[in-house]
Amino acid sequence: MKMRLLRTFAMSVIGSMQPSETPQDPLDLEVITLDPQGNPAKSVYYSYGQLLTLPTVTVKTEHDPNTNTPAIYTGIYLSDLFEVFGADASLDVIGANCLDKYKQYYDRDYIAKHRPILLLKFDGQSPDEWPRASQSPGSGRHGTMLGPYCVVHESFKPTETIYEYVEEPRIPYGVVSLELTRFAQSIGRFMLKDSGNDPEAIKGQKIVTGGCISCHHLGNAGGQFALPSWADVAASAQNSRDNFRKYITDPHSMNPQAGMPAYPTFNDDTFNALEAYIKAMMPIE
Ligand code: HEC
Repeated sequence: MKMRLLRTFAMSVIGSMQPSETPQDPLDLEVITLDPQGNPAKSVYYSYGQLLTLPTVTVKTEHDPNTNTPAIYTGIYLSDLFEVFGADASLDVIGANCLDKYKQYYDRDYIAKHRPILLLKFDGQSPDEWPRASQSPGSGRHGTMLGPYCVVHESFKPTETIYEYVEEPRIPYGVVSLELTRFAQSIGRFMLKDSGNDPEAIKGQKIVTGGCISCHHLGNAGGQFALPSWADVAASAQNSRDNFRKYITDPHSMNPQAGMPAYPTFNDDTFNALEAYIKAMMPIE
């Protein structure tokens, strides 16, 4: 009861937190509101100091996946950010945009299952002092700066396994802005219009929305880290299935410069689901 009251009080403080219309500092967090077409409608900037005045949590993790060390995280639950940013009820997804155009979406379902945290302090330190990411070869990402912001979990347990695809944590680093958007304009853009019939296509859809859209875009939805759009990827699945499969399991065998991460575990079942989804999605507009 007492906690609840404190929290209500803390959340009411938020209402009075005024963001700035223009960036003032490299650590400012840009918050973009997208219009119903998925285009940026407005941007405001919250200072690092302002974010620190919000109700934060401090948790210990046994294994920080970016540095492969134990860590103490202080940050804000993404579930609280909708209110912090004054999002109206139609805005049900937060997108995290990285400097290299990698993007992750947080929908209500993922947020409830995994409780992602916008990181403000790593082992008590502010972003200038954060360690660098120890990149696993083939992760594809550019650079190793964790800051200015990143999204972390106290612990991540995959809730979905589809053949050889295991749900991956959405843990972008180098996050420079957050966007408030709608399911239909983000993850929903990649969903089958008529998902009724083919269970394999639905499995493929889960692989793609969980694993591929952080880099491959469709219109203004999804990350733009990769030059080939999702429509390009789908075309290559349809035109040259063997090359498609080979590129995904071992991109370096076909392109020494590949920025695409390898999925060496994907087997026939996994690819059949992926291809059933792509086929059901055609034509992609
Ligand atoms: C970390 C970013 C990233 C993720 C995640 C990612 N890709 Fe890619 N992908 C790339 C990049 C970058 C390229 C462009 C070529 C290159 O640099 O390897 C690419 C190229 C490809 C290509 C070959 C290009 C073409 O037009 O045929 C295919 C096929 C592909 N990706 C499929 C996928 C699938 C399927 C997934 C999800 C299982 C996925 N990608 C996830 C970054 C990514």
